[in-house]
Amino acid sequence: MATSTYFLLSAFVALLASQVIASDPSPLQDFCVADEHSSVRVNGFVCKDPMAVNADDFFMAANLDKPRDTKTSKVGSNVTLVNVMKIRGLNTLGISLARIDYAPLGENPPHTHPRATEILTVLEGTLYVGFVTSNTDNGNKLFTKVLNKGDVFVFPEGLIHFQFNPVHDKPAVALAALSSQNPGVITIANAIFGSKPPISDDVLAKAFQVQKGTIDWLQAQFWENNHY
Ligand SMILES: *[C@@H]1O[C@H](CO)[C@@H](O)[C@H](O)[C@H]1NC(C)=O
Repeated sequence: MATSTYFLLSAFVALLASQVIASDPSPLQDFCVADEHSSVRVNGFVCKDPMAVNADDFFMAANLDKPRDTKTSKVGSNVTLVNVMKIRGLNTLGISLARIDYAPLGENPPHTHPRATEILTVLEGTLYVGFVTSNTDNGNKLFTKVLNKGDVFVFPEGLIHFQFNPVHDKPAVALAALSSQNPGVITIANAIFGSKPPISDDVLAKAFQVQKGTIDWLQAQFWENNHY
């Protein structure tokens, strides 16, 4: 009796753990091209009739070989994301792609992808990259690396990370793959200081251990999104 209870309990815990560890759920068919006209709300998108699916559902003339404009961005970067919103065939497949252009001294500021691990390679230039671990007894540990053309680096799912072009006279370009059809982006400064409506400056002054005036100044800045 006690043994079977333990068995059931451990089976339940294992099931729960597998659901917590999993990122995008695995597909249960060859493909499930997102039906953008369906009004049904599910986790992801409902499948278009497979008989109506064609090669264009898996295709985008994305021009990812072409440089993006980085001059108008205050942080000096431009992220071009190809996710399920751009290629409907990515629905349920747990993967997406991004090109990132960096101006000289430009950066992709600290951000997280709540649903994806990222693997990045440098196509042109040099990048100083890093991520920070979640809270531990020893604080938040920073891992950094300087990447040259052809180097590859991994940013684990959910962790705060950044890329910075330390070169003052040359742009940089990276290509990144992400383990979700819809990785999501939370740019830390934008989410904290640029939320609408704003987070109370009482809350942020205490959180950041500064005067409310400092928070008010930060909240008055324009926090632009560099992801498209
Ligand atoms: C990103 O690049 C695209 C294509 O060059 C451009 O249309 C867009 O305005 C750029 N965004 C920013 C913020 O620079």
